[in-house]
Formats: sequence, C-alpha cells, structure tokens
Amino acid sequence: MPINAETTVGQLVAENPAAARVFEKAGIDYCCGGHQSLHDACDKAKMSTAEMATLLEQAAAARTAADRDWLKASQAELVDHIVNTHHAYVQRELPRLTALIAKVRGVHGKNHPELAQIEPVFAAISAEMMMHMMKEEQILFPYIVDMEQAAQGKGPQPMPMFGTVQNPVRMMMMEHDAAGAHLVKIRELSSNFTVPADGCTSYRVLYEALAAFEADLHQHIHLENNILFPRAVEMEA
Ligand SMILES: [Fe+2]
Ligand SMILES: [Fe+2]
Repeated sequence: MPINAETTVGQLVAENPAAARVFEKAGIDYCCGGHQSLHDACDKAKMSTAEMATLLEQAAAARTAADRDWLKASQAELVDHIVNTHHAYVQRELPRLTALIAKVRGVHGKNHPELAQIEPVFAAISAEMMMHMMKEEQILFPYIVDMEQAAQGKGPQPMPMFGTVQNPVRMMMMEHDAAGAHLVKIRELSSNFTVPADGCTSYRVLYEALAAFEADLHQHIHLENNILFPRAVEMEA
C-alpha cells in the first residue's frame, strides 16, 4: 500500500507498529510529536519521504508477532497492556536508575560534570511519572474502560468527574510533553548516551538503561497519545 506523506507519524505507527523502530533510528518523535506529518518529520530528519517510505515498507514486511496491532484490541486490553508492561517497567526502573546515576556520578562526577546535571532531570522524571501513572491508573483508565463497557451495553455510563474526557486527556498529554522534554535534555547532556573513554562498566550499563528507558517511554506515550486517548474522545462524542 503506498504511503501518504500527509499521514501523521503517530497514525503510521498505530497502523504499522514496526514503524516505531524505523522512526527511533531516524530520531523521529512519533509519540509526543505523533501529530506531525511524515513529510514534515522527514524534512526535520533530513531524509527524503521516498527513502523513508521504503524503510517503512521493509519494516512492515519484517513485522513480528511482538508488533501487536493495538488498533484491533479493545480499550480494556490496551489499558491492561499499558499498566502491566509499561507502568510496571517504569516503576521497576525508576529506583534502579536513580541509584545507578548516583553511583556513577559519585565515581565519575569530577571528570564528567554532566552527570550532576542528568541527576536532577531524572529525579524530575521520576517524581512526575509516579504521579502521572497514579492519575491514569486511578482515574482516567478506569473511566475509559467503563465507557467502553457502557458502549457495549455491559454496564452503566460512568459519571465523569472532570466534565469531558478531553480535559484529563489534555492534561495527560501535557505531562507526556514534559517527560519527553526531560528525556531530550538527558539525551543532549549525555551526547546521545555516548560513554566516555574513561567510563567504567557501570557508566555503560547506566547509558544503555537510560536509552532503553527512553525507547520504552516513547512506545508507552505512543499507545496513549495515538490510540487509547483519541479512541476515548471519539467514543465520548
Ligand atoms: Fe501511562
Ligand atoms: Fe501517560
């Protein structure tokens, strides 16, 4: 199927989950920046749209079972996946990475002052993400699941505590932007997670773990911004 250059990158990943790997590699933001068109994203990444379309088609052809089509899943299934996979991962990684940053900064901070700059940025991500996920799990996600149940005639229409679902969705998306901006900052401070020549094993483990944390958060935000939230807004309308 020919790829339309005006399609948004968020939509392209929703339709072809394998596209996420191509965009990650090209440094194209498909989660918080999911609303940009393929054409604009390629311009920014200094790539031709035709070249990118070929890569996307190759990725689609090489798609594996792990690239699940979440457009075909229910909201309840998607919420379960987000909470059990991505929220659980963030909860597991935040304390581990916080300790690892402190350890590496303790050993290498003198020669690498950027570590002392990374530390408070990660602390901000940690505090903000814990609050953010709690709001999703306790308020927004149960509401979205109840809305779907009601639409299928399996339960009563939930009482909105926040006017329209668009209000919490907008707030969650703003918080995603903030987390995304912190990650960009860490990527810059760490020179794209490049371990310096005098870096030890812990330094390498830290940068690999931070890169993995970033990739997971991109996928996590993509599922919410580009699939879960738009479907909830549509369902309410
Ligand atoms: Fe989330
Ligand atoms: Fe979120």
